Amino acid sequence: MSELRRISKYTKPYRKEIVAAIILLGLVVVADLSIPRLIQVIIDDGVANKDMDKIISTSLLMIGASILSAVFMIGNTVFSVRASRKMEADIREDLFKKIQSFSFGNLDDFTTGQLLTRLSSDLTQVQMFFTMLLRMFTRAPLMFVGSLSIMILTNFELSRVMFVMIPVTSILVYMFISRVQPFFARVQERLEYLNQVMQENLVGIRVVKAFVRRDYENERFEDANNQLFETQLEFTQLLSIFFPLTMVIMNMATVAIIYYGGMQVFAGTTSVGTIMAFVNYVFSTMFPVMMLAMMAGQISSASASAERIMQVLDAEPDIQDKPDAIKLSNIKGKVVFKDVEFSYSEDGGDPVLRDLNFTAEPGENVAILGSTGSGKSSLINLIPRFYDATKGQVTIDGYDVRDVDMESLRSNIGISLQEVSLFSGTIRDNIRYGRPDATQEEVEQAAKAAQAHDFIMGFPNGYDTMVGERGTNLSGGQKQRLAIARALLIKPKILILDDSTSAVDIETEIKIEEALEEQLAETTRFVIAQRISTVLNADQILVLDEGKIVAEGKHTELMDTSPIYKEIYDSQLGNGGAQ
Ligand code: GTP
Ligand code: MG
Repeated sequence: MSELRRISKYTKPYRKEIVAAIILLGLVVVADLSIPRLIQVIIDDGVANKDMDKIISTSLLMIGASILSAVFMIGNTVFSVRASRKMEADIREDLFKKIQSFSFGNLDDFTTGQLLTRLSSDLTQVQMFFTMLLRMFTRAPLMFVGSLSIMILTNFELSRVMFVMIPVTSILVYMFISRVQPFFARVQERLEYLNQVMQENLVGIRVVKAFVRRDYENERFEDANNQLFETQLEFTQLLSIFFPLTMVIMNMATVAIIYYGGMQVFAGTTSVGTIMAFVNYVFSTMFPVMMLAMMAGQISSASASAERIMQVLDAEPDIQDKPDAIKLSNIKGKVVFKDVEFSYSEDGGDPVLRDLNFTAEPGENVAILGSTGSGKSSLINLIPRFYDATKGQVTIDGYDVRDVDMESLRSNIGISLQEVSLFSGTIRDNIRYGRPDATQEEVEQAAKAAQAHDFIMGFPNGYDTMVGERGTNLSGGQKQRLAIARALLIKPKILILDDSTSAVDIETEIKIEEALEEQLAETTRFVIAQRISTVLNADQILVLDEGKIVAEGKHTELMDTSPIYKEIYDSQLGNGGAQ
């Protein structure tokens, strides 16, 4: 509930629409409540007195009232839908922007499936709730109070039927609400799980096929799908018991009114028209009570969704600019790690990096070597501040990265991440991603350095070739080279290549290296590599093992001083090594 209240601040800009919707709703109720009265007049004054004129004129009034009611209702729908849809769009925009502001650490807290569910179906729940609120919320109590007052005022004795009926229905509604309440949160949770399963499957569908795990995936999906279905089924079953039951009670009330009313008619204390009107008012009193049950369901469902949306909106990006953040410009590219320790978990669990100390001078080529899981990617993630060091500091030109403006920091760093992601669009757009205003010449220059130009020109459409979703129509090595070109195009002062040539043949790799050496002589380069041949010419090689630097220096030095390094070298190149 409280989350719903918090999310309702999004209604603020649409006050006018909301007020209009509520006023129109009030008018609908007035028109609706007048109809049974008019029926009463038709019967008592018209039919009973055989007064045809009265019948016709009152009938026309009645038709007029119902047309008015319809028109008001349409007006209400227009305003309430407009307000709630706009609100939905506003929340979605905020959600999207929030997610964009997330750090890598924040993104680790949510799965893609969770974020997608919150952006779609949770948002729909909240929107539907507000639409319903604006169409029903004020109408239900007005109808209830209005009908009941009219009944009491016109015939108190007869209206006593309602004094039995309202408590009975209320108990029923209460029972229904308390049984149904937990279902809604559960439905959303299961939907979220289903989305997660589907999303993982769709992203990894090729792996599923490769490993012949279709049956397993089908089972996993069926399981999630069934869980959702069963929850929805249970809920629908409750609904299907509730409504017929209330109908029975309502019909019993109608019979009671006709019975007692009939006796009153015989005694001459009331009219047939009044009975007719009362039968109608029974429905208009009870309808809102039934609506209340529906609404209670919607409230739980919407507040469960609102809570999940607010979790995303409330998440504070754990990496933010300081208020007085320094804008980096014209940096030289000196990178220093001082006593750096880093752990992925906030409570300072086992650090994946420890006691890191090294200096990369501007223009230096630093190679990082180490077995898988030794912390290479984690290390370079600290330079653009994708994560913050748990202890110690990382500085660029003497500035602690936590003190500088992130945008200015990152715009000086060209990075090609270990997992290449491309966007659907042309090859040119992908290379230009970090600098959309780059000229064709600049794009080509970057592509040439990344040894991508030739294969791009080999495509019939050259740079206009469309890249499929996640680069499906490109080979692994081609994707890597596009990612390198993309990083080069921003003319970075610091270039980070995380295993970016792992899928490229050695010859091409050497050419890329030569081009980088030539074109980016002043750029500080961090190159993570598996192949020792890549690092032979580096100014500085850092050998990582279990998060620690176990050796550093140039190739020739390390051959003498580091047994680990020598071992790697021998296994790959020395003594007739395979590569
Ligand atoms: P390769 O890329 O396989 O060569 O390994 P790497 O040297 O780049 O290792 P990386 O820095 O990715 O990982 C170092 C350690 O951190 C490993 O033990 C991982 O299990 C762990 N790790 C990596 N990413 C995450 C993360 O996002 N969350 C958590 N909790 N741990 C992570
Ligand atoms: Mg890695």
